[in-house]
Amino acid sequence: MEELSRRKALVAGGALGALGALGVAAPAQAKALWTWSPAGSVAGAGAGTDPRTVWDPQVDRVISALLDRGDVSRVNELLRTWTTNDQQLPSGLPADVRELMESARRLPSWVDHDKLEQSFDFTKRRGLYLGVLYAMASGMMSTVIPKEARAVYYSYGGANMKDRISKTAKLGYDIGTRDAYAPGGEMTVTCVKTRMVHSAVRHLLPQSPQWNQAAPEDVPISQADIMVTWHSLATTVMQKMREWEIPISDDDAEAYLHSWQVTAHMLGVRDEYIPASWHEADRQAEQVLDPILSPTPEGRDLARILLELGSELDGSVLSKPLLGAFTRYTLGDRVADWLDIDREPVFGPMIETFWPPFIAAREFGLNFPGSDETYWLFDELIRQVVLLYLSEADYPISIEIPQGNRPS
Ligand code: HEM
Repeated sequence: MEELSRRKALVAGGALGALGALGVAAPAQAKALWTWSPAGSVAGAGAGTDPRTVWDPQVDRVISALLDRGDVSRVNELLRTWTTNDQQLPSGLPADVRELMESARRLPSWVDHDKLEQSFDFTKRRGLYLGVLYAMASGMMSTVIPKEARAVYYSYGGANMKDRISKTAKLGYDIGTRDAYAPGGEMTVTCVKTRMVHSAVRHLLPQSPQWNQAAPEDVPISQADIMVTWHSLATTVMQKMREWEIPISDDDAEAYLHSWQVTAHMLGVRDEYIPASWHEADRQAEQVLDPILSPTPEGRDLARILLELGSELDGSVLSKPLLGAFTRYTLGDRVADWLDIDREPVFGPMIETFWPPFIAAREFGLNFPGSDETYWLFDELIRQVVLLYLSEADYPISIEIPQGNRPS
């Protein structure tokens, strides 16, 4: 029962969104200048160092040493028992890992619990849109972010996308829960573990001949990369909701932004790179996200895998065209063509015709002609995504430090 309701919450609450964090990368980045000013950040000031040259040294030192001394399995086993924000760290952790985690679990001084509370309320009211957008906008967009695509593809989890998606979905679920960052919640734990996973990936991927051949950088997952993915999640979702004319109050928008600001901080992003407002987020995204979107062989393959995850259930008869059509609708023809997504003669026009009135009707609580079919279509879309991505996940989902790369 417990697990059932958790799954339901995942469906309704936007766990799908975590797909956006799947990390799929962009073309060899033409090195445009980093000009976004730290004056627009939550810190309000900073050195202005190009975040493409900044990683996470404090964590990287400890996790590299942990991997080198071969102690990861034992740490992962202990970490499985650490699940809630206010829980003590398990005893038996190596001293350097414990010290690191005690520091990493601290919330920023500027955290505002009232805003987090309001963000939860917003998520409850807007869960449908958030879930669909995290999956179909952020998740699919991650396949045309070249550095993320390559990192995901050649890392250990790249060989088992279902498992990887369920773990990533955990973050998308946890951020939308009532006590995300409060005692009893799980988001602090999820972020600290994810920060350590990213750190391990920085150590491991440079040892992958395949990644080295494909990637333009020496060390993956810089602070800039994390903000690119952050924009593919938070900024893209907010922009799409506005484009779809979903009424969102200023307070709701600010609260939702706050939950993502805290998340960026907890993932190790320096405050000087975290936008203080949606206006600043849009400006930063224009600089770091929009220009780098591009297809890669790895991203195309990941997109294909994502769209075909339902094949075991329905032979991809319904799920693939439906998900493909919604991807085309959400991300546009350019991205859909990059990903070799077919134009769907039935679902494509249906979504174009009925999605806007569906939203309008939902917002005004109206029924409209054809609403039964339309509700079915969109319910089915959500059901498919959740079934496909989460049905085979192991519960409880445990985010673990990888010890190798994608087996070749
Ligand atoms: C792992 C979220 C940015 C690449 C994870 C996990 C989560 C996550 C929850 C743990 C799931 C797992 O172990 O499979 C996020 C979020 C990001 C972000 C919320 C930004 C806001 C990035 C970026 C990259 C990246 C920028 C690459 C450029 C990876 C890789 C893994 C991972 C390779 C490990 C996969 C493996 O297990 O082998 N991320 N991520 N992530 N992430 Fe991220």
